[in-house]
Amino acid sequence: MPTKYNFEEIVSHLKSSGYVYQGSEIYGGLSNSWDFGILGAALKKNIKDLWWKEFIETSPYNVGIDSAILMNTKTWEASGHLKGFADAMVDCKECKGRFRADKLIGDATGLSAEGKTFEEMDKMIEENNIVCPECGKHNFTNARAFNLMFKTFIGTLEDAKSAVYLRPETAQGIFVNFNNVLRTSRKKLPFGIGQIGKSFRNEITPGNFIFRVREFEQMELEFFCKPGTDLDWYKYWVDTCYNFVRRLGIKEENLRIREHDKEELSFYSKGTSDIEYAFPFTDWGEVWGIADRTDYDLGRHSEASGKELNYLDPETNEKYIPYCVEPSVGVERMFLMICCDAYDKEQLSEKDERIVMHLHPAVAPVKACVCPLSKKLSEPATALFRDLAGEFHCEYDEAGSIGKRYRRNDAIGTPFCITFDFDSETDGCVTIRERDSMEQTRVKIEDVKQYIKERIAF
Ligand code: GAP
Repeated sequence: MPTKYNFEEIVSHLKSSGYVYQGSEIYGGLSNSWDFGILGAALKKNIKDLWWKEFIETSPYNVGIDSAILMNTKTWEASGHLKGFADAMVDCKECKGRFRADKLIGDATGLSAEGKTFEEMDKMIEENNIVCPECGKHNFTNARAFNLMFKTFIGTLEDAKSAVYLRPETAQGIFVNFNNVLRTSRKKLPFGIGQIGKSFRNEITPGNFIFRVREFEQMELEFFCKPGTDLDWYKYWVDTCYNFVRRLGIKEENLRIREHDKEELSFYSKGTSDIEYAFPFTDWGEVWGIADRTDYDLGRHSEASGKELNYLDPETNEKYIPYCVEPSVGVERMFLMICCDAYDKEQLSEKDERIVMHLHPAVAPVKACVCPLSKKLSEPATALFRDLAGEFHCEYDEAGSIGKRYRRNDAIGTPFCITFDFDSETDGCVTIRERDSMEQTRVKIEDVKQYIKERIAF
C-alpha cells in the first residue's frame, strides 16, 4: 500500500527544506542530476555511517575496504559488463521497462532481428505493433546501442587502449581484492568484504527523482562462504537486511520481500530476493537486492586474470572457490524510502496543521535544537548548545515564536527541541519537547546530553 501522500508533495518538501537541490541549477540543471543539500548530506552520511557500523564495524564476520572507481578494463570484460550492456535496447515509455530490441521482436513475432540496423528494428517494432510485455502498451523509445557504463580515457590519448570505465557497481572492486583481504586480514570463511562508494550507470530511463539516477552510491557486501552453506547464509542476509530496514522504523505495511522466480534469476544465481518499498509513484520499487551469486564472480576473475582466487580450508585442507552472497543497496534509494515513510501532515486543530518528518532519530540530520525563550537568555542557552554540539548534530534557533521554531524543526525531522526559559536559570532545568508525541519533559541541564544520547541510539 503506497504512502498516503503523493510523490510530488514529498519531493517538493525535500527540495524546499534543503534536503535535495537540483544539480547545476543555475545553468538550468542537468537531466536527472541532484545535489544533496545541508540536510540531505547529513541524512546520507547518517545512513552510510549506520550501515558501516552494523555491517562492518560491529559484525563478527565482515571487513571494509574502499576500492578505486576506475579499474583495469579487463575487470569489466571478466565480469560481463562490457559485453552484457552493449545490446540494442528499447525502453517502454509507459512503464519504464527496458528490453533488448532483438528479444522483444523475436518473442512477439518469431522473426529474427539478427544483423538488422537500429532503424530496421524500430520499423519492425512499429509495423508489428509490438506491445510491452510488462504493461501491454505500444510506446517505445528508438533502439540504441547501450552500454550502461560511462566511458572515459586516461592520459592524453583518446584511443581504445586508454579507454576506462566508471564502475557501474562497487562489487567488482571487492572481488579483485579477495586475495589481498585474505592475505592482510587473517579472516577465515565465512567472512564478508563490504564497501560504500559511488557507482555510475548511463541509465536510458532515469527518473522518479533520486530513485533511478546516473550517479549514485552503493553499500555492498560480498559475503564468502563454503559451497553448500550458501543458501543458509542467503536467508541470513535477507533477514538481516530486512531487520535493518524495520529497525529504521520503516512501516511493515510498506515493505515486502520479493523472491525472484526461476526464470528471472541470472544463470549463475541460486536465489535472489529484493526488499521492496511501496513508493508513492509505483506499486513496489526495489531498495535492496540480496543474491546468492555462487562462485561466478571469483571464478570469472580467476579465469581471466590467471590468478587463483581460492580458499584453502585450514580444517579440511580442501581448496575451493568460495560461494558469495551479495546484499547490495543504493544510498539514494534508502534515502528516498526513509523520506517517503517519514513524511506526514497532521491536523492539530482546525487552523493548525504541521508537516512532520518522523525520521528515526539515528538518521535525523539534526538531533536537537536549542531554543531560548527570549534573546535575553542567549548566553546560557548558547553554552548548552556548545556543550551538546560536541556530541551530536545540534542547532541553535532564537528566531520567531517558540511555536514556529517547533514547526520548523518538525518539518525537517529534528527529534528534540530544548527550550531554555526564565526558570532555567533558577531551577537548572530545560524543557525537552519530543517531535512525534509533542510531549514536553522537564530535564536537568546536566542530564540533557545523556537524555538525548540514549534516545538517538540505533
Ligand atoms: N552488485 C549488484 C548490483 O549492483 P543492482 O540490483 O544493479 O545490483 C543494487 O543494484 C542496488 O543499487 C539496487 O537495489 C538499488 O538500491 C541501487 N541502484 C541500482 N541502480 C541504481 C540507479 N540507477 N539509481 C539509484 N540506485 C540504484
